[in-house]
Amino acid sequence: MLSPYLVLSFFAPLVLGKTTAPNLQLHEALDNVPAGFMLSGPAAPDTVLNIQLALVQNNVSGLVDELYSVSDPSSANYGQYLSKEEVEALVAPSLDSVTAVNSWLSLNGLNATIASPAGDWLAVQVPVSKANEILSANYSVFTHVSTGLRTVRTLAYSIPTDLVGHLDLVRPTVSFPDPYGSTHPVAFSRPVSDIDLSNTTSSCANLSSVTPACIQSLYKIPSTAATSNSNRLAVTGYVGEWANEADLQASRRSCTMFLERYRPDMNSSTMFMLETVDNGSNNQTLAYAGGEANLDIQYTLGLATGVPTTFISVGGNWSTDGFLGSLLDTANYLLSQDSPPQVVSTSYGLDEKLVSPKFANTLCNAYAQLGARGVSMLFAPGDAGVAGFDHTECTTFQPTFPSTCPYVTSVGGTVGIPETAASLSAGGFSNIFPRPSYQSTAVPAYLSGLGSTDSGLYNASGRGFPDVAAYAVYYDVFIAGELIAVNGTSAATPVWASVVTLLNDRLMAAGKPVLGFLNPWLYAGGASALTDIVSGNNRACANDTGFDAAVGWDPITGLGTPDFSLLQSAVGL
Ligand SMILES: *[C@@H]1O[C@H](CO)[C@@H](O)[C@H](O)[C@H]1NC(C)=O
Ligand SMILES: *[C@@H]1O[C@H](CO)[C@@H](O)[C@H](O)[C@H]1NC(C)=O
Ligand SMILES: *[C@@H]1O[C@H](CO)[C@@H](O)[C@H](O)[C@H]1NC(C)=O
Ligand SMILES: *[C@@H]1O[C@H](CO)[C@@H](O)[C@H](O)[C@H]1NC(C)=O
Ligand SMILES: *[C@@H]1O[C@H](CO)[C@@H](O)[C@H](O)[C@H]1NC(C)=O
Ligand SMILES: *[C@@H]1O[C@H](CO)[C@@H](O)[C@H](O)[C@H]1NC(C)=O
Ligand SMILES: *[C@@H]1O[C@H](CO)[C@@H](O)[C@H](O)[C@H]1NC(C)=O
Ligand SMILES: *[C@@H]1O[C@H](CO)[C@@H](O)[C@H](O)[C@H]1NC(C)=O
Ligand SMILES: *[C@@H]1O[C@H](CO)[C@@H](O)[C@H](O)[C@H]1NC(C)=O
Ligand SMILES: *[C@@H]1O[C@H](CO)[C@@H](O)[C@H](O)[C@H]1NC(C)=O
Ligand SMILES: *[C@@H]1O[C@H](CO)[C@@H](O)[C@H](O)[C@H]1NC(C)=O
Ligand SMILES: *[C@@H]1O[C@H](CO)[C@@H](O)[C@H](O)[C@H]1NC(C)=O
Repeated sequence: MLSPYLVLSFFAPLVLGKTTAPNLQLHEALDNVPAGFMLSGPAAPDTVLNIQLALVQNNVSGLVDELYSVSDPSSANYGQYLSKEEVEALVAPSLDSVTAVNSWLSLNGLNATIASPAGDWLAVQVPVSKANEILSANYSVFTHVSTGLRTVRTLAYSIPTDLVGHLDLVRPTVSFPDPYGSTHPVAFSRPVSDIDLSNTTSSCANLSSVTPACIQSLYKIPSTAATSNSNRLAVTGYVGEWANEADLQASRRSCTMFLERYRPDMNSSTMFMLETVDNGSNNQTLAYAGGEANLDIQYTLGLATGVPTTFISVGGNWSTDGFLGSLLDTANYLLSQDSPPQVVSTSYGLDEKLVSPKFANTLCNAYAQLGARGVSMLFAPGDAGVAGFDHTECTTFQPTFPSTCPYVTSVGGTVGIPETAASLSAGGFSNIFPRPSYQSTAVPAYLSGLGSTDSGLYNASGRGFPDVAAYAVYYDVFIAGELIAVNGTSAATPVWASVVTLLNDRLMAAGKPVLGFLNPWLYAGGASALTDIVSGNNRACANDTGFDAAVGWDPITGLGTPDFSLLQSAVGL
């Protein structure tokens, strides 16, 4: 196929000569500086911005139709995932869009490179002065008051009128970076280095010390090794969260580390593989061991027995690119692979209010592309109940992204046996994404039970999250040689990812397709293989409001927690 970009260089000069200063029209804008940030002044004109431009994708509705067609068990095409080329054909921009946008850039002396496999993203470096001019923007420095994070963003930008319908969005512009720079929702409780470490194979005997054995017995997860070589599980890492190999495997100071202690039955050479995006790294200096990264790696390798597992370490600069840029680059990295991992676990997120609706939709469409290719994308919703990641604003409930994207599976948290909803578990309703059709029975059933309670604090028309849940409190994790107890939906997410990847292993062995985008199946028949969590609440706001768990779906524990043996039957094994 002829690259649209090459074709462009023939057309561009023709267009160039005819174009005069284009009319600009407002494209995205914020009413106010986002809460918590303050305007510090104009950005230096020579500051170079790494601008990314999303071109309008040619057939998003076709993509979504194809996604549901391969993910809905009642469809004749169930499990018949699209190839890389088929997905790219659906989202590639039209030649007109490529030509129009590149002509405008070249008219302004700019030459963009293609930044995604389908050619729907372009990248170009532009000084602030130039960006202000061509986008009618006002790039300024914003400072987050409580963390000191400084970032260059604009409260509004425009695009030429004749690019409307060709240029979807420009970033970084009106989406702000997560101010906490560590969006991972882990809560560390006291070190448990004092506990009796000699007996770790007992199941859930001590809920102050949750181990792989406990999770295996709670959810009937088999300990036998997976057999399929083409099965892959990926765990993403951001914000300089590095997964430490010694914490996972080595013996140190007469103290064995995670796998040797908790999975003595496993091959003692078991190790994760490393891939990097945006110059990411994985420094093995013990002091740099990441709590989140170690939790995610230890509970995937410790539960998804024998599944080849990759740690994807994403670099980048938090204040300039932001977490959203990292998420986008991760999605494009996965989409660039002919055989991406079939399950991806991400225990990071941010408040949806920081994300522009256009960008949220575009990134969510990237997850739809991965789903159409048979990839299960799992995300943690966060750990402050309805209060959101900044834990402060309780005037309205704060939904979290990417959990609110309807094409991902969001994993809430539980505590206790029998399990109840963990109050830390985030959940609620999107202000950007409407309720997807697969929730058309489950969510109204919950809302009718809720009645007028909390009315006005959440968006009843939005996509409800999470979709499922797993245990989320007091996980034993080795971090820099110490045994630490960790709480969070960050723990629940790798557990579900492990369950899905082990189901995939059995499906592949039986010659069947993997599970791919889970939600249409979960909300149809899959829910019957889950344990419905019916009590507890996520009242994390200061004034004690939040949602209650209930029979059926609820916005804390979703449809419930896994039962591997029931799930195996439900997928026809
Ligand atoms: C642009 O923003 C700066 C602050 O960063 C402000 O002082 C200036 O008035 C703004 N300019 C316009 C035209 O709005
Ligand atoms: C969009 O994709 C759908 C699904 O593959 C296809 O049926 C439809 O013809 C496509 N539309 C266009 C305009 O290409
Ligand atoms: C744009 O850059 C590419 C290489 O990145 C180069 O091949 C091409 O000639 C450049 N085009 C213009 C118009 O400068
Ligand atoms: C972790 O969860 C337990 C049980 O809900 C709670 O008692 C403990 O305070 C939590 N620890 C932190 C640091 O949040
Ligand atoms: C380990 O725990 C199990 C279950 O609680 C118990 O039956 C067993 O006696 C313990 N073993 C040791 C060596 O403490
Ligand atoms: C359970 O674990 C906690 C924390 O690790 C520890 O303090 C306590 O002694 C343990 N209880 C039993 C019965 O082992
Ligand atoms: C254990 O794992 C190593 C490294 O992956 C592998 O080379 C070896 O064959 C495995 N041993 C067994 C018994 O499976
Ligand atoms: C990665 O490193 C290379 C070489 O140092 C640099 O040119 C590039 O801009 C970096 N990319 C990112 C996303 O940081
Ligand atoms: C890891 O970090 C340490 C301390 O900053 C540094 O000395 C070492 O060179 C780094 N290792 C790698 C592989 O970058
Ligand atoms: C990130 O970018 C900002 C602005 O360019 C710079 O001041 C800061 O040093 C960078 N941080 C890192 C870790 O490179
Ligand atoms: C409690 O909720 C009400 C809405 O019912 C809200 O107006 C108020 O700001 C909240 N107060 C606190 C302290 O969160
Ligand atoms: C509620 O969600 C819908 C999408 O379902 C959105 O269009 C609407 O703007 C949201 N309302 C508010 C107040 O955010």
